[in-house]
Amino acid sequence: MSINYTERIPNNVDLGSNRILQRALEHWQPEFLNWWKELGPRDFQVADVYLRTATSVDAKGWATYGFVRMPDYRWGIFLAERDPNRKIGFGDSFGQDVWQQIPGEYRAILRRLIVTQGDTEPASVEQQRMLGHTAPSLYDLRNLFQVNVEEGRHLWAMVYLLHAYFGRDGREEAEELLERHSGDADKPRILGTFNEPIRDWLSFFMFTYFTDRDGKFQLKSLAESSFDPLARTCSFMLTEEAHHMFVGDTGINRVIKRTLEVMKELNTEDPGAIRQAGAIDLPTIQRYLNFWFSSSLDLFGSEQSSNAASYFANGLKGRPDETQYEDHVALGTAYELGIPDGSGGVKTEQIPMRNAMNEVTRGSYVRDCDLGVKRWNRLIEKAGYDFRLALPSTRFRRNIGAWGGVPTDPQGSPISQEEFDTRKAGWLPSESDQTYIFSLMHGVHEQGKMAAWIAPPDRGINNNPVDYEYVRLS
Ligand SMILES: [Fe+2]
Ligand SMILES: [Fe+2]
Repeated sequence: MSINYTERIPNNVDLGSNRILQRALEHWQPEFLNWWKELGPRDFQVADVYLRTATSVDAKGWATYGFVRMPDYRWGIFLAERDPNRKIGFGDSFGQDVWQQIPGEYRAILRRLIVTQGDTEPASVEQQRMLGHTAPSLYDLRNLFQVNVEEGRHLWAMVYLLHAYFGRDGREEAEELLERHSGDADKPRILGTFNEPIRDWLSFFMFTYFTDRDGKFQLKSLAESSFDPLARTCSFMLTEEAHHMFVGDTGINRVIKRTLEVMKELNTEDPGAIRQAGAIDLPTIQRYLNFWFSSSLDLFGSEQSSNAASYFANGLKGRPDETQYEDHVALGTAYELGIPDGSGGVKTEQIPMRNAMNEVTRGSYVRDCDLGVKRWNRLIEKAGYDFRLALPSTRFRRNIGAWGGVPTDPQGSPISQEEFDTRKAGWLPSESDQTYIFSLMHGVHEQGKMAAWIAPPDRGINNNPVDYEYVRLS
């Protein structure tokens, strides 16, 4: 069904035919707008921003571009096309028809999964709300705002499901999604990572590369769900999410490119000299990478999880790209896990495959993360330098799971807490790293200009030139 933009809430779910639902969502809409104005991007609400808006949900041509003031963005409810023959793709009910309504016994669990996903969407908008002031260019400013409005739309996506399928409980959860706030002492966001403010653009690029990619894998797992409306919602969200990771990937790429230019110009690899010239030395980039990668790993949960096993058994949450596996039931098979042996070493344990689903998903995520690292390294190699970026071990700096609180080096070898503390400044952003990065953060809001710590992108948005006036500040 095509998207109807004539209604107050744009949608492709024939909202007009369900008056009660429509009215409930129209009641939530002004609360969302209040939240956006209060906790969305600070001080840029009247700027005209070159944004894309979804116009259809098929793979081709789903976006139109134009100048919009962010509070006028047409947030709405868009689900991927329904496949009337879709069957359950994994678990105990493999091969049966998918559900259009929620079986009573899974109501509470599905509500929890949807709320947890939904909570991250507005959280990231809140985390990034001050970044507009320090954007390195109008191009970047526009990308930030595109990410922000789409995270707002992802909140709409989850709120639609809550309203449409969970009755009064769902409506209450939808209210609470606007009441919890990132970093709030009394009502924080649900997941730890989403309570840390993002104060600088290196962190923003790391966040969109690593943390939005966690979102990608969560959405991929939910896109496999037997609850068809959830699967279709998440499928369409994934197409929007791709841009967020593009922002992170190309952002880090451009930072490295600029660093390499400075290294060449000055004929040095000395971090001090590179900083003197206003660029970001590669070891600092590695430390930020270590921080954001390890913090995003925790979002997948414990390696061994009976919840994950029951989500899989009951068909609620599958593995990303479930069709690539041969065995969709995963009973009677085992997963080999390296865990701390309690005396400074590592032991191997066999656990039932279904209990290892978080770790399976994390593994797919890690391989996906590594693709970017390889691309960035090619850039460094081509410039003739030996330095290589690397993902740290999945054991490094974990707070959740078997390796939670177990100190290791970035290669994943267990070490003493003392050793970790003495060497940590070489592995994670130190206070002086952060001070230096902050010192670079000055907004460049003039058309055609770019901050000195980052190279311009290879191309602009939607065939426009890089120096296009992507945000009209007035
Ligand atoms: Fe999102
Ligand atoms: Fe995102």
